[in-house]
Amino acid sequence: MPFEMQAKDFPLLKNDLLLRAARGLEVERVPVWIMRQAGRTLPEYRAVSEEHGFFGICRTPELACEVTLQPIRRFDLDAAIIFSDILVVPQALGMEVIMKPGEGPVFPEPLAGPDDLARLQRPVNVQEQLGYVFEAVTMTRHKLEGKVPLIGFSGAPWTLMGYMVEGKGSKTMSKAKRWLYQHPTESHQLFSLLTDVVVDYLVGQAEAGAQLLQVFESSAEYLGPDLFAQFALPYIRRISSEVKDKLKAKDIDVPMTIFAKGGHYALEQLADSGYEVVGLDWTVDPAGATDRLGDKVTRQGNLDPCALYAPEESLDALAKQMVERFGTRRYIANLGHGIYPDMTPERVVTFVDAIHKYSRQD
Ligand code: CP3
Repeated sequence: MPFEMQAKDFPLLKNDLLLRAARGLEVERVPVWIMRQAGRTLPEYRAVSEEHGFFGICRTPELACEVTLQPIRRFDLDAAIIFSDILVVPQALGMEVIMKPGEGPVFPEPLAGPDDLARLQRPVNVQEQLGYVFEAVTMTRHKLEGKVPLIGFSGAPWTLMGYMVEGKGSKTMSKAKRWLYQHPTESHQLFSLLTDVVVDYLVGQAEAGAQLLQVFESSAEYLGPDLFAQFALPYIRRISSEVKDKLKAKDIDVPMTIFAKGGHYALEQLADSGYEVVGLDWTVDPAGATDRLGDKVTRQGNLDPCALYAPEESLDALAKQMVERFGTRRYIANLGHGIYPDMTPERVVTFVDAIHKYSRQD
């Protein structure tokens, strides 16, 4: 049975370009999707969001499914990504997170110091705490009708810890980094606890029907090579290896992507961390990154999200240049970080069409 046809009698997958590219198989054109494609830019998302609130959408499978499908209806994308947020994991550990419109996520009571670790509720029963995400995944797999594969995701431990300690986005992550220097043992305890939850959470999403799993280490940019090697990489590796072992025992095999934003200093290690795909942010040069990653992983990325502000012809040329630089093998086209909220949908069409046009193999 092909790997995309597991339990639950899901509709047959009609476009498996993403899954083939992830596994290094031949593709007739390069698959393209856009980080943060659901929500953020679309007026039809804002309408749902104003009525139900951000976490209201996340927690209601019908709404999460609807918002996941919105960009798929509008654009010729080659993958859907389940609508949720990385911060549902700290919520599952008992932390309160509020989404302030226009500002972002806020933790009213962040972890002030290691004593606060006692506040985290554990063990976490992911089925109980995050079952609503699994339901949304299964529902979305059905409603997609096999049009494109569905991506599940999680934040990586360091990125999650950053928000849990800072209490909101930060320009320096200095409170979280203070833990790494002052409380390394407790930091490792927290990373280990988060890793356990993330593993079960990703396994649950794959069991529910997610066909590729992406791990977001969005705050890699605040670490250098040494802190990354000590506090991030071991958990990134543990996640891929434990998720794959647990899924293998259930006869499920899904490719995995690691996107460490700002982790340019660790590309060789990321290529060797047990993921089929390495996401590249927009600061890295495609040729240099390709050399450093080697040919055992698929590359994903990495157009500057701001390139979508360029006039249509310039954007078309930039997308063409990107495909030429990466080549059409072992490559998934994307932006080098999430799309910005004020981007016009027309530019998304230009970008997606350009990738399709310039990467078609005849
Ligand atoms: O691709 C998708 O749109 C799927 C859903 C998705 C969201 N968040 C929805 C969201 C995904 C994959 C995420 C991941 C996420 N969330 C990351 C990692 C990716 C990255 O951007 O680096 C991070 C760091 C978060 C935490 C988070 N959530 C922040 C910092 C913010 C505020 C800034 C922003 O993105 O608007 C959010 C809010 C958020 N997550 C929104 C959406 C659609 C906007 C909420 C709203 O205003 O309605």
